[in-house]
Amino acid sequence: MDDLSVTALSPASENLEAELAGANRQIGLVRKQCLEMGVRDIASVAAAYHELKQQQTASKVWCYDNFTVAGSNSSGIVKSDVHSDERECIVWPINHYLGLNRHSKVIEAAIEAVREFGTGCGTSAMSGGHNRLHKELEKKLAVWLGKESALLFPTGYSANVGAISGLAKGPSCFVLFDRECHASIIDGIKLSGAKYLPFRHNDARDLARKLEKHAAGFENILVIVESVYSMSGEEACLQEICDLKSHHNFLLFVDEAHSFGLYEERTLCSKLGLSDQVDFVMTTLSKSTASIGGVVACNHAFKTMLQVEANAYLFQAAIPPADAAAILAAMDVIESRPDLLMSLWGKVDYMRRRLRNLGFDVGNGTSPIIPVFVRDSDTLLKLGQDMFENGIFTTAVAYPVVKHSEVRFRFILNESHSFEQIDHTIDVLHRLGQSYGLIG
Ligand SMILES: Cc1ncc(COP(=O)(O)O)c(C=O)c1O
Repeated sequence: MDDLSVTALSPASENLEAELAGANRQIGLVRKQCLEMGVRDIASVAAAYHELKQQQTASKVWCYDNFTVAGSNSSGIVKSDVHSDERECIVWPINHYLGLNRHSKVIEAAIEAVREFGTGCGTSAMSGGHNRLHKELEKKLAVWLGKESALLFPTGYSANVGAISGLAKGPSCFVLFDRECHASIIDGIKLSGAKYLPFRHNDARDLARKLEKHAAGFENILVIVESVYSMSGEEACLQEICDLKSHHNFLLFVDEAHSFGLYEERTLCSKLGLSDQVDFVMTTLSKSTASIGGVVACNHAFKTMLQVEANAYLFQAAIPPADAAAILAAMDVIESRPDLLMSLWGKVDYMRRRLRNLGFDVGNGTSPIIPVFVRDSDTLLKLGQDMFENGIFTTAVAYPVVKHSEVRFRFILNESHSFEQIDHTIDVLHRLGQSYGLIG
């Protein structure tokens, strides 16, 4: 893993034969398995994917076509587009931490903006696609993110890809990133053409070791972490990472997708008093602010550079006006309703504590992302189906996204979940967890 030429981004196949057998095999491994069997032609690889999809559809484990009939909410009918099953469920995969996609002020602001500004923007920010809402939003986001200025991108994904590939251009740059960083960060790094290396998850000592061993000779070093990790809900060791700046020369990029807007101070970096030591604070606007968009906040000079160098800013149409208005309104609600934050954190503590007391392994996180570790891929699949039968819709984090020994469910708590919904979900988990031997 220490070899700079190694991408090291996908866990190795642990048991190829088992993975090749039956509908339960992992869809994410199809291409790799085809290559290992000498099948290289793209149409044949696609046919292999489709065959497995059909097998998984027949056994009702295909999940890529699941959807909520009436849109994102804490409960509703969940259905698949490829088979007839549908069920009223408590819904757990939605990242609207404060439930603001259903808030009347946010909805009204979006409707008003469509009346005033129309629907799409028709071009990128660079060629005039922004209107006064976008400009107001950039200014407000810079303040919330604790930096001089901010640059809006159409999505969180493209903010990471655009900013990272625009910043770390070419082989004079070296990027070190936490190995649990989001795909958009990894894609941005790959696109940049820089040398890169992951460090052990949330391990500042491993980062320090890798800085010492590999960074000499590079003119620019970029370290990238998330403030809260999306698969575990764990907070990053931001203070320890910032402390490394006193001995090592690097720029620090922090993705606050899963923490933005959830504290009085707005970001985890500000809550910890670290905003000045962080060079780039990025967040998506699709989670607590219940819309779509991404933002990278930094100093004026870096903003100017990214305006010219980040292709995702230059060549991608801007956020629609309704979304810019919805984000601004969501930020107003967050400012005027601190009780929503308190209520969210109260529910997070309650749910984590109840699950832990029942004996579930919920990891070391503190955030509204609550993992329930299953640590066995077969059990994950069966338990997932049983939960759905019992009206619980959640995300299974399966191999190869994580190792077999780390597979888990992920419950994303929103303020809009009621205590009744939380209790019902825990009761179902309790019963099923006992029957599968996950808890005593
Ligand atoms: C850490 C992190 N960064 C970036 C993104 C991308 O954001 P979006 O889905 O809003 O484009 C996500 C999305 O899940 C994420 O979890």
